[in-house]
Amino acid sequence: MKILSLRNRPLNISGRMIGAVQLGVLAACIVVLVPMGLAGYHLSRNKVLFFSGALFISLAVAVHLSPYFPTLTDFLPSLSSSSQSSSSSSSSTLVLLQNRDSCISLLHRIQWMHHQTPNLNLSHSWSWVLSDEDVIACDFQKIGRKDAGDLLSGSWVVIAGDSQTRFFTLSLLDLILVEDEMLSVRGDLFKRHSDYHLDVDRLGLRIDFIWAPYETNLTQLVGELSKNQSFPDVLVMGSGLWHMLHITNSTDYAESLEGLASSMAPFVASVRVPDLGSVSSSSQPHLFWLGMPMLISSMLNTEEKKEKMTNVTQFAYVRGLRSANLLPPNGPFVLLDMQSLSENCGVRCTEDGMHYDGVVYEAAVHIMLNALLIQSQQKL
Ligand SMILES: *[C@@H]1O[C@H](CO)[C@@H](O)[C@H](O)[C@H]1NC(C)=O
Ligand SMILES: *[C@@H]1O[C@H](CO)[C@@H](O)[C@H](O)[C@H]1NC(C)=O
Ligand SMILES: *[C@@H]1O[C@H](CO)[C@@H](O)[C@H](O)[C@H]1NC(C)=O
Ligand SMILES: *[C@@H]1O[C@H](CO)[C@@H](O)[C@H](O)[C@H]1NC(C)=O
Ligand SMILES: *[C@@H]1O[C@H](CO)[C@@H](O)[C@H](O)[C@H]1NC(C)=O
Repeated sequence: MKILSLRNRPLNISGRMIGAVQLGVLAACIVVLVPMGLAGYHLSRNKVLFFSGALFISLAVAVHLSPYFPTLTDFLPSLSSSSQSSSSSSSSTLVLLQNRDSCISLLHRIQWMHHQTPNLNLSHSWSWVLSDEDVIACDFQKIGRKDAGDLLSGSWVVIAGDSQTRFFTLSLLDLILVEDEMLSVRGDLFKRHSDYHLDVDRLGLRIDFIWAPYETNLTQLVGELSKNQSFPDVLVMGSGLWHMLHITNSTDYAESLEGLASSMAPFVASVRVPDLGSVSSSSQPHLFWLGMPMLISSMLNTEEKKEKMTNVTQFAYVRGLRSANLLPPNGPFVLLDMQSLSENCGVRCTEDGMHYDGVVYEAAVHIMLNALLIQSQQKL
């Protein structure tokens, strides 16, 4: 499959469906009206039937061959999707077509494998759970370097938050950049507690990492972006660990997130295109919230952390996140659920009970990229 840039996307799904219906009506008109016109020329009933049959067959053949003619399918994406669904698992794909959200909700159905390396270290790998039919129907894929570059080319990606988002940024860059480019980045981005800006010229891709350990830092950033009227194509945010350690008040956390949620109004408003009443293809920021990972109190590296970052506090903070209007159904962010990913990878995947092996953030990156493919209607 050729992956298109987020900034250069095909019609949205409702547009496609309308396109398919109109095409069907048009075809039906041709099949009925052309032979009727011929009948007007006093052709025999058999000839009219013959023409009508021939037209019907040519239209059917054209519809089924159309996926092989890329220029035609570029204009009529509905043709390729409908013919694919009829040749593969038709009913489930059709249901999903009408409800892409269900695939987004399945993105975290991931399983982990743990391998022992020759020097007795453990390494981990993951895949989507392939025993689950719904997951198979969604056809999630690990995205390769070239496809990730194609998808994000020309885009502006902003990632803001604490060390979790920094590791996420590293994983994303690890996927997109080639070895030489990555070498210099590793040194720079590992400077703790600082912002980082990168232009990948060959892709026209701009990436900003903003160090924003507290929710108020995120709200401030969102305010600045709104004031500048400059909205990134992809915005990934996440924080909570600093608040948990230094403020330790889940009610206050929930209130801060609520403040952040209301500051997002200009972003969400930029989605609406009044005259079409639908989602615009170029100005819609894709919003992701990187959740907190599972903290393993006994492994944390200071007494203060062990004392404050308990299971009970964690649970209250997760509840705080759920109660603030950041996530669906009332909020605009898609959750990259680090808690579920880290919990499933398990204790073996962390050394300090807080930061996980790179492969866990890598999984989160692939979840985001698959969500972007679904959101930009390049899937299903
Ligand atoms: C493997 O283990 C050794 C010590 O046994 C350690 O120095 C090294 O960093 C580990 N490698 C990885 C990839 O974790
Ligand atoms: C984040 O917010 C805190 C508290 O409001 C503030 O002290 C700190 O300077 C901010 N940090 C950054 C990087 O903006
Ligand atoms: C907003 O615009 C100002 C002036 O161009 C710039 O310095 C600042 O970095 C921008 N803020 C953000 C968050 O992009
Ligand atoms: C927690 O935060 C809330 C809201 O900011 C505040 O009303 C409450 O007094 C705080 N609780 C404690 C124990 O500090
Ligand atoms: C904290 O969670 C871990 C993992 O779920 C569990 O093993 C442990 O018993 C919990 N501890 C407390 C105090 O609830």
